[in-house]
Amino acid sequence: MTFKHRPIIDTIPAYKQGKPAPAVAGQRSFKISSNENPYPPLPSVQKAIEDRALDRINRYPDMRGWDVVQRLAKDYGVEPENVVLGCGSTEVITQLVTLLAGPGDEVVYPWRSFEAYPIIVAGAGATSVQIPNRPDGGHDIDAMIAALNDHTRLVIVNNPNNPTASSVRDDEARRLMKAVPSDVTVLFDEAYFQFNNDPSTSVAMDLFREYPNIVVAHTFSKAYGLAGLRIGYGIAQPDVVEGMRKVSLPFGVTQTAQVAALVSLDAKDELMDRVRKIIAERDRVVAALKAQGWDFPEPYANFFWLPLGAKTEEAAARFTAAGLSTRVFEGEGIRISVGEVEANDKVIEVCQSLKSDGIA
Ligand SMILES: Cc1ncc(COP(=O)(O)O)c(C=O)c1O
Repeated sequence: MTFKHRPIIDTIPAYKQGKPAPAVAGQRSFKISSNENPYPPLPSVQKAIEDRALDRINRYPDMRGWDVVQRLAKDYGVEPENVVLGCGSTEVITQLVTLLAGPGDEVVYPWRSFEAYPIIVAGAGATSVQIPNRPDGGHDIDAMIAALNDHTRLVIVNNPNNPTASSVRDDEARRLMKAVPSDVTVLFDEAYFQFNNDPSTSVAMDLFREYPNIVVAHTFSKAYGLAGLRIGYGIAQPDVVEGMRKVSLPFGVTQTAQVAALVSLDAKDELMDRVRKIIAERDRVVAALKAQGWDFPEPYANFFWLPLGAKTEEAAARFTAAGLSTRVFEGEGIRISVGEVEANDKVIEVCQSLKSDGIA
């Protein structure tokens, strides 16, 4: 860049959005690259947007998102002062990092993990301390603990972890919490919480009631299927929420998103039924791939991770040719979202061909 700017910005990797479904002549194609919910929006959500939001787009939204905040507080058994909304949980995480860390401060998190973390941390001028995952895709809790020092301002736990889909066990999370000083914040990013059926998983809201230095981030993008509307939330101590609100994007959460979130909370049973179907599809695909001889981390999200290493690009081309856009991490592996049944069937077929042809 030829203009005067913060050099740290040059270190930021560009966020790679999951590619749209590839156009392949004569066949239906699917986008399974962004961990989205394959189900269409609920009719009740669409109607509420029409009735309660569309005629108000000449007005700014309620900046606090009070109705949603109150509703979430009631559902979680906390006070409204414990809840903060964001323009997706990406913004919630950004608020927290901006509040806590600046030049000279360190943010410890697993890697590979959610690709927004390094972008957000560098954007705040702070330093990322990336702790490589264990070979099984899980967080290396001992190494995370060993990385703590006087500069540490935030530790991020991503459960289940994007892109490996591994879950963080309760005993691991507790070991970490015992080691982190009480004035250092720990963010539990549980964007895929509802898909995590690991019986030994940590549940951040349970830990939150024991450790005041925890912040929990959840989103309406995944299980609730509102990715396009951009709404997520954080649960934290009131003074942390106050600080996060100070640095939040003013009016970032639209009225449309707030209305949709409220109606979605009312439709929770219907949406959790969809989540159960997605989990069943995930388990069907995983069982088929394991029968083909694949070895990959047990997934607890609405996606799974194929660690293909040097064969990644060759394998990725097969998925694209079959009309499937996947999330490709060059030289590392491919993350595949659980999609429509037809898309999942195609994934099983492509994986079989990769095995038969010795690519995997
Ligand atoms: C681990 C993780 N956290 C947070 C998010 C943010 O989601 P959103 O900003 O849509 O709420 C994502 C999205 O892919 C994610 O994978």
